[in-house]
Amino acid sequence: MSKLKLGLFGFGCVGSGLYEVLSQSKFTGAELIKIVVKNKDKQRKPILVPFSYNPNEILEDDEINVVIELINDSSEAYRIIKAALIRKKHVVTANKKVLSEHLDELIQLAQQNGVSLLYEAAVAGSIPIIRNLEEYYNNDSLTSIDGILNGTTNYILSQVNDGKDYQTALKLAQDEGFAESNPTLDIHGFDAAYKLTLLIKHAFGLTIQINQVLTVGIQKINKEDLNYSNEKKYKVKLVARAFKDNGKLFAFVAPHFTSSNQNLFNVENEFNAISVQASFADKQLFYGKGAGSLPTASAVLSDVSSLLYDYKYEYKKTNDSNLVFSDDRFVKIYLGSEDVNNLSKIRFYNSDEFYVSKNYSFRIGIVRLTDLIKIDWNKQNDVSLILFSDLFDENLDSKQLTNFEFLNRNSNYSIH
Ligand code: HSE
Repeated sequence: MSKLKLGLFGFGCVGSGLYEVLSQSKFTGAELIKIVVKNKDKQRKPILVPFSYNPNEILEDDEINVVIELINDSSEAYRIIKAALIRKKHVVTANKKVLSEHLDELIQLAQQNGVSLLYEAAVAGSIPIIRNLEEYYNNDSLTSIDGILNGTTNYILSQVNDGKDYQTALKLAQDEGFAESNPTLDIHGFDAAYKLTLLIKHAFGLTIQINQVLTVGIQKINKEDLNYSNEKKYKVKLVARAFKDNGKLFAFVAPHFTSSNQNLFNVENEFNAISVQASFADKQLFYGKGAGSLPTASAVLSDVSSLLYDYKYEYKKTNDSNLVFSDDRFVKIYLGSEDVNNLSKIRFYNSDEFYVSKNYSFRIGIVRLTDLIKIDWNKQNDVSLILFSDLFDENLDSKQLTNFEFLNRNSNYSIH
């Protein structure tokens, strides 16, 4: 392809980062022609590229062959991405929400119009995970992905662990430009869930909507929960998981207890990490900055430069197997609350530990994922839910569960 002519939507954290990255890098294959922004009144330092306030100045400019979409408003982003693809412009975007909600439609539009739709920056910032899932594991079968995919929540959990209070930590994450304009998307786990659905598409070939994925945020985790975690030498992390078992794919996003023998244990602040398990390659860890201006812009730059050799995702794992999405299995959870009665919101099949005191109670045991997903945990103000990382390799059958209950009934039950 001859020189790329770029039209950029958005000049916030990532957009301005891209300008800086383009200015500083040795890459000469692209020229930034125009930047469209929404707010006319915002003070911006003068740059060498003209600003415009009318999206059509990019969309209808025939010279521009690449649209880079980095805006906050997801409805407008969806409209821009579609309009650009229809006009046969390549699109590079970091918008995980729009991609997750409209993935198959946008892929189809790109294919019909013979252009590329690239989004490395949409998942885990600077980590080149999409490109690796697309290219490296072509002939290997992936069995699981475990990731810290949200920089904001990981930053907050690290800072809280270091003694900061939750609100101060959130404010710091916002000041650094890590958080979404609506930080609820980060805190309640939706941002990580959007990213997980994109990983699932490339790793396992399935299109999943986030309402199919158990999504639990970090907002309810309190001092008592963290005390338990510290006592057991765990760290609480918001982990996004997808794994295959017996022809089924399972996925969820929730706070997890991680222990020091796990790769994700030492991932702190705005860093993200993705642990990939493949049949032949075995376990690999991808690690890097998952949020922030220049790290995220570096992924955009990488997508842009790949357009010079006409790079397109091929979604090679689609229709690879008869894999079906499922929530039919058991998981082990910690449920904490000030009121012990709240701990019966869900049916436990056993009790590994049941702690009751006047001020705080918690119960640890096995529950069905099918039951968990029926409850919107982000709306349960009176309980905190944390999952254990050590998943059972296979579904527990009822006989094993009975044994579990029997073995544990008396061992760890304590009333204080
Ligand atoms: N809000 C996102 C995060 C930005 O904190 O990870 C990067 O996608």
